[in-house]
Amino acid sequence: MLGGTAGFLGAGMLFPMVRFAVDPVLKKGGGVGFVDVNLPVNQIKDKPIAVEFKVHRKDGWYEPAEGETLTAWVMRQNGKVVALSPVCKHLGCTVNWDSNPQFKNEFFCPCHFGRYYKDGTNVPGTPPSKPLDKYQIKEENGKLLIGPVIKA
Ligand code: FES
Repeated sequence: MLGGTAGFLGAGMLFPMVRFAVDPVLKKGGGVGFVDVNLPVNQIKDKPIAVEFKVHRKDGWYEPAEGETLTAWVMRQNGKVVALSPVCKHLGCTVNWDSNPQFKNEFFCPCHFGRYYKDGTNVPGTPPSKPLDKYQIKEENGKLLIGPVIKA
């Protein structure tokens, strides 16, 4: 059990992270609520990649000047581009792709061993009771724009 835990923690550190920190104030495009994450759509493949981007939004009275960094897992499913939220639908931890060697090619949540298939559907019998949320997406001038989350 301990070996398995250490294994997935180690693997979790190796997953590919693509960082596209883009300030939407500086990077126009896509209309209200959409951020150009500076990722050409033709570079998006079947394998999920983590894309980071910044948004500016107010949470009550609090609005951090530097913005808030969000992550989307971006991939193709049956040729179609999809961006999934990394927020686990059990209790809100962060899921990673292919990070547990026991569960290859799945999203895995280390908090309570939650699992999701590549399309974001929760694996039956694991803690999450719903699929991962999806972000709204658009393509503009060959680039990916990510918008608000659509709740599953
Ligand atoms: S928060 Fe993800 S499985 Fe519990």
